[in-house]
Amino acid sequence: MTDLPKCDLLAKYDPLIAEHAGLLSSGIRDPFGIVMDKVISPTEAIIKGKHTILLGTYNYMGMTFDPDVVAAGQAALRDFGAGTTGSRVLNGTYQTHKECEDALKDFYGTAHAMVFSTGYQANLGMVSTLAGKGDFIILDADSHASIYDGCKMSNADIVRFRHNDVVDLEKRLKRLPPEAGKLVVLEGVYSMLGDIAPLKELIAVAKAHGAMVLVDEAHGMGFFGANGRGVYEEAGVADDVDFVVGTFSKSVGTVGGFCVSNHPKFEILRLVCRPYTFTASLPPAVMACAATSIRKLMTAHDKRARLWDATRRLHGGLKARGFRLATETPESAIVSVLMPDQETTARMWSALIELGVYVNMSRPPATPAGVFLLRCSICALHTDAQIDTVLGLFEQAAHHTGLSLAQAA
Ligand SMILES: Cc1ncc(COP(=O)(O)O)c(C=O)c1O
Repeated sequence: MTDLPKCDLLAKYDPLIAEHAGLLSSGIRDPFGIVMDKVISPTEAIIKGKHTILLGTYNYMGMTFDPDVVAAGQAALRDFGAGTTGSRVLNGTYQTHKECEDALKDFYGTAHAMVFSTGYQANLGMVSTLAGKGDFIILDADSHASIYDGCKMSNADIVRFRHNDVVDLEKRLKRLPPEAGKLVVLEGVYSMLGDIAPLKELIAVAKAHGAMVLVDEAHGMGFFGANGRGVYEEAGVADDVDFVVGTFSKSVGTVGGFCVSNHPKFEILRLVCRPYTFTASLPPAVMACAATSIRKLMTAHDKRARLWDATRRLHGGLKARGFRLATETPESAIVSVLMPDQETTARMWSALIELGVYVNMSRPPATPAGVFLLRCSICALHTDAQIDTVLGLFEQAAHHTGLSLAQAA
């Protein structure tokens, strides 16, 4: 085990290993090695002994510590045990899984709901199972890795269109054989820049060319639309969306993924979708937490309003202090701060964590080429005082790092 083989398969990662080591040797903290020693609430944790404001957890509705959610999980843990040890199609479907799927059907007003073990697997499974040999998958260039991986796993032909570009989507659809099966894959909110998709226009084009449409609402569920279903609900295009994919790891506050649909043949997917069939189902405690959280989100109107208030406060405050933001106005509960280069991004991120603010650092390939970001995600439970503290600390971090800020607007 100690001698490296002649052909080391990990050698291809040497440039990345060197880059990472170079970053750490400059004395900054590892942005990808954070450990939460203690989580105090959805907005605060102790990290390396320091009290830290959490501003990068996608816990939009703050459901992780909701007393009803926690109690439901505890009861299911007691009554059903720690795990199912089996696939959904064998011994891994418990009453709790059915209750969670019922909660999803009620939340989305759909006939069908299928729970996967993660949102990643939901996209992997849906995209690869819907589109097969001879079909086309048409996806936004900025799509999440799980959508790209679903494309790779399918035997379909892949066509990318420029991010959120309706004209480019139309141009590419026009070139495809009219009779071929087509799946257009979109996201409600794009999580890197925090911008939303012009779903009405994109979906109109997709439908005009006979495509089926799948929308990933990972970052829209809980607070977009009258019922919190997502950007597609707010855009008024629910009747034209064939499949909605989502995750429990953001607004719902636990772990898991799902797809909902009204398609009459939807249930057959349980037998043919490999990332659903060939993996163990989620523990019953997780299902009970998710079901309770989803039902509470149906009426969380005050929390939604609060989330938008806090988002506007952060976006407006950063802009007023001269930070360059990825969107002119707050489009979602993700506020992305544009950075000039990798080194400044890393130093800014490190200064913020030392000062007690946790945000996400993002760089290519997760971001579009040449785009470096500090991504902030806001929680409905962030107080105005916390947002104001964060704004002050962003200013201090910029000062420490020598990041030049634009003239205050
Ligand atoms: C747009 C999008 N889709 C899917 C996922 C995957 O979700 P999960 O964390 O449940 O695997 C994510 C998570 O980051 C995401 O941002």
